[in-house]
Amino acid sequence: MLDWDNLEHACQNCSRCSLCATRTNVVFGVGARDADVMFVGEGPGEQEDLQGEPFVGPAGKLLDDMLSIIDLNRNNCYIANVVKCRPPHNRDPKDPEQDACIGYLRNQVSLIRPKIIVCLGRIAARRLIADDYRITQEHGTWLHRNGFWITAIYHPSALLRDVSKRPDTFMDLLSLRDKIREVGAKI
Ligand code: URA
Repeated sequence: MLDWDNLEHACQNCSRCSLCATRTNVVFGVGARDADVMFVGEGPGEQEDLQGEPFVGPAGKLLDDMLSIIDLNRNNCYIANVVKCRPPHNRDPKDPEQDACIGYLRNQVSLIRPKIIVCLGRIAARRLIADDYRITQEHGTWLHRNGFWITAIYHPSALLRDVSKRPDTFMDLLSLRDKIREVGAKI
């Protein structure tokens, strides 16, 4: 396991998959490195690639609004992605790209040791919870695993496309707030 400085250096210089050829910036992660609550998206989009920070485009604006409902923000949780470089044209990251990158995320989790991990969308849920995870049926359910609680909620991009999913996500956010209280997670 690498410490933060070496991990960030390794990511910034990574050429483990072909996404390195088209990236503007590596999008390492943002937030408190001792956070008890961690969010994991799928991968950077255009704005994230340009700015080097996760969730700063339209989906990120919605994510900030979602977090604020339960008193979370970029300073009291940690936000990262399954892949740290933008897949061209915002396509889903391919399995070999995820395989090449997932060690960095696992290293981040090992350093942060969050009490709660929230997957944002199907890609993160399939990578971190179960490879047959069905976000429509299983969002908002909790599993205890390797010392932390883990769940998935709809990706904010899905909520931008389909507002009918928002009430479910509101309930999932309240469930997250309950879990934060239950496990005494600091925010
Ligand atoms: N979508 C993601 O999954 N991650 C980001 O950082 C931005 C958009």
